[in-house]
Amino acid sequence: MVVLLRSIGALLCLTAVTGTLDYEDNDPGGLCNVCLCSEDLVSVDCSRLGLTDIPPGGSSKVQKLNASNNEITSFPRNLNRFPNLGTLDLSGNQLSTLPADALFNLTNLDLLNLSRNAFEVWLNLNPNEVLLLATSLRVLDLSNNRFTSLGNLENQELFVSNSLEILILEKCAIATIHGRSPLLGLSNLKVLRLSHNPLRRIHSLMSSTLRLLDVSNCQLSYIHHDSLVSLPSLITLQMSHNFRLILATTSETLLSDSLRYLDISYCNVMQPSLEGFPNLRKAYISHNMVRYLTSMEFVNNTKLEYLDLSYNSISSIKRDTFRGLLKLKYLDLSWNEIPALPEDALLETPELSQINLSRNYFTKVGHLKSLSVTVLDMSQCEISMIGKDSLEGMQSLIDINLSRNLLSHIPDSISSNTLQKLNLNYNRISAVNNYTFFMLPRLTSLSVTGNRFTTIWHKAYFQSNPYLDNLDLDDNMWRCDCSYNNMYDFFEYVTLEPNKKEESYKLICNSPSELFGKTWFDACYMTWVPGQQTMNADGVVWFLFSVIVGLTLVFLVVSAVKRSMKRRLEAIQAERERQVEEARDRLRQMRIRAEQEAQCNAPDPRDLVPPPSYIEALSMPKLNTSCYSLNEAGSGKSKKRRGRRKTKSSGDLLEETERNGDVRDDFEMVENTDDRRRRRRRRSAKYGSHEIAELEQSPGARRRRMSEYEAGADSITVEVEAEMERPLRPRNRRNSIDDDEPRESDF
Ligand SMILES: *[C@@H]1O[C@H](CO)[C@@H](O)[C@H](O)[C@H]1NC(C)=O
Ligand SMILES: *[C@@H]1O[C@H](CO)[C@@H](O)[C@H](O)[C@H]1NC(C)=O
Ligand SMILES: *[C@@H]1O[C@H](CO)[C@@H](O)[C@H](O)[C@H]1NC(C)=O
Ligand SMILES: *[C@@H]1O[C@H](CO)[C@@H](O)[C@H](O)[C@H]1NC(C)=O
Ligand SMILES: *[C@@H]1O[C@H](CO)[C@@H](O)[C@H](O)[C@H]1NC(C)=O
Ligand SMILES: *[C@@H]1O[C@H](CO)[C@@H](O)[C@H](O)[C@H]1NC(C)=O
Ligand SMILES: *[C@@H]1O[C@H](CO)[C@@H](O)[C@H](O)[C@H]1NC(C)=O
Repeated sequence: MVVLLRSIGALLCLTAVTGTLDYEDNDPGGLCNVCLCSEDLVSVDCSRLGLTDIPPGGSSKVQKLNASNNEITSFPRNLNRFPNLGTLDLSGNQLSTLPADALFNLTNLDLLNLSRNAFEVWLNLNPNEVLLLATSLRVLDLSNNRFTSLGNLENQELFVSNSLEILILEKCAIATIHGRSPLLGLSNLKVLRLSHNPLRRIHSLMSSTLRLLDVSNCQLSYIHHDSLVSLPSLITLQMSHNFRLILATTSETLLSDSLRYLDISYCNVMQPSLEGFPNLRKAYISHNMVRYLTSMEFVNNTKLEYLDLSYNSISSIKRDTFRGLLKLKYLDLSWNEIPALPEDALLETPELSQINLSRNYFTKVGHLKSLSVTVLDMSQCEISMIGKDSLEGMQSLIDINLSRNLLSHIPDSISSNTLQKLNLNYNRISAVNNYTFFMLPRLTSLSVTGNRFTTIWHKAYFQSNPYLDNLDLDDNMWRCDCSYNNMYDFFEYVTLEPNKKEESYKLICNSPSELFGKTWFDACYMTWVPGQQTMNADGVVWFLFSVIVGLTLVFLVVSAVKRSMKRRLEAIQAERERQVEEARDRLRQMRIRAEQEAQCNAPDPRDLVPPPSYIEALSMPKLNTSCYSLNEAGSGKSKKRRGRRKTKSSGDLLEETERNGDVRDDFEMVENTDDRRRRRRRRSAKYGSHEIAELEQSPGARRRRMSEYEAGADSITVEVEAEMERPLRPRNRRNSIDDDEPRESDF
């Protein structure tokens, strides 16, 4: 086992070593240790590594070297160690000079990307020599550099290259092109991109080979009418987004025999002025200021196929405006202000197949005539009328879009032998009938979304439209009359296979109110599928069974709920009782506290009459009656009195004290002065502190004192009761606050 593992390990090591060896053979300098090389070493990516130079080494196989987004400030030397280099990307560096021999021996170089560098002075690029050495160079990207002009250097051409085809100078700061043509040294130049430069004029651009000139997003305002004559091969001219640019003055128009594609959208063009371009195929003149099209406006553009005049302000078109547009296939006049199109205007364009008249001021579909138009877009105009023969003149019309207009009525028997798609969405049509589509035999698609239909259509409306396979009826105010047989017929016709024409969920009832918002099918299900209403025997059995089961379940649930309710009620009851008890307790405590406070705040008369101590009691004068008889009589009574006293209010106490005063009066007669003095002394010692006073008042203390004096007290109580039996006699009040006479009768 171990041996096996070891041998596998050795094998792995061996392959790894040979692999690296292989690698180093092909990349002796270790370029691929720094940069990312493709497996076949053909492509090397050194981008975004913060490099200041391209690392040494590298295979001679390298065809693509990407050193973009680094910190390279001088053009890398020794690039000729890559004789097969085809693409060199040095964009996003800080190059400002290009040595004359920079591209020496790079005979396979096809693309050199020097965009986003710091080039500013043309001479520092050695433009006369540098490209000559790269004999295959086709594309040179110098965009996003800081050139301010494009012109000849002193007595020299700007660039010299026999191979360069594409020169990109976008987003530089080039404001002028001057001198003899700066392009003359580029004998094979095909594409020149100068967009996003603050260019005001283009002239003196001479090139017999240039095919595409992009000067869009510049600041051009005028082009000399001969400017393009020196560009005899120019095919595409992109000039959009030059907000001040006009194509021609009234006297002179721009001329180019070769031009085929012209984009002058988003400019300031007032007249299309295309007469100087006899070979023009496509013209984009949208988003300009064209107000009207004159007679014979395009008479020399016999090869024009595509004309976009949308987003202008065209309000007038002459009947011969389109004369000469023999090849025109697409005409976009949308977003203009055209109120009407002359009836014969389109007859001048025998190949016109698509015309967009959307967003204009048409109020009716006139009697347009065209033998070729197949698609007509007249949506979003103000069309409120369409004649029954409106479409007859359009003998090839297949698709007409009349959506978002003001149509409220479609005439009977509107006829077209070719029409297949009729778009009437978002109009105000409320009714169609058996004859509306009668004369549209090829109709395949009809859209009436968002109209005002209420009455459900009739299948018979389409009896002469056998090819109809798409019908958009949604967003109408359908009144669902389910019992009306026709509704089911029509529903079936529209939604069921085969030839399904509409999705059933799009058919929504608007009325009657109880069916509002329901689909036709949901609304009329009960009516249309009557089998669901009557039940057979099986159904009855099942019904009964389920009723019984249901009732049982209901009973069980109800009893369970009842039981739990009862339990809960009991719990609630118990809780309430407990709370009441608590409240009662609290009340009782509060009353006791209040009582105590009252006793504490108002000096309790009893306190002023402390009980006699045992010794005092002993020294008390002897009662008239015998102790024995007193004890016998009071032992039971005293307990009763004590129990009563516990609940006595302070008022009672006061009363009692008053009465006791009387009692004391009786005692006083037999009390000697010695005793009184002694008692007074003891009292002042006893009531030295408030706490003690309180303690003395507490029921416990009172009870203690009571038991302390039980024997004597009982006899006194009897005496008190005996006193009470006597009528109260008038007396002077002596038991005031400062009256410290002892009160033996307090118990
Ligand atoms: C070079 O690398 C950058 C990413 O850093 C990439 O955007 C660019 O396309 C590459 N250039 C080429 C020629 O592949
Ligand atoms: C040159 O590099 C830039 C990125 O820096 C890129 O956007 C541009 O397309 C490249 N040019 C060409 C011709 O590939
Ligand atoms: C250029 O290439 C040739 C042959 O391909 C070679 O003899 C010559 O030394 C190279 N020059 C440089 C500067 O590398
Ligand atoms: C337009 O064509 C006519 C003849 O077809 C020609 O005489 C006229 O010069 C042309 N106009 C322009 C501006 O080229
Ligand atoms: C017509 O032009 C409008 C507005 O520019 C556009 O929305 C519509 O798609 C065009 N119609 C056709 C058939 O191209
Ligand atoms: C009119 O309908 C056609 C197709 O029938 C469609 O291509 C075009 O975009 C529609 N136009 C608008 C403005 O919706
Ligand atoms: C439409 O035609 C059908 C049969 O062809 C006929 O039953 C129906 O009454 C007609 N409806 C109207 C409104 O003419």
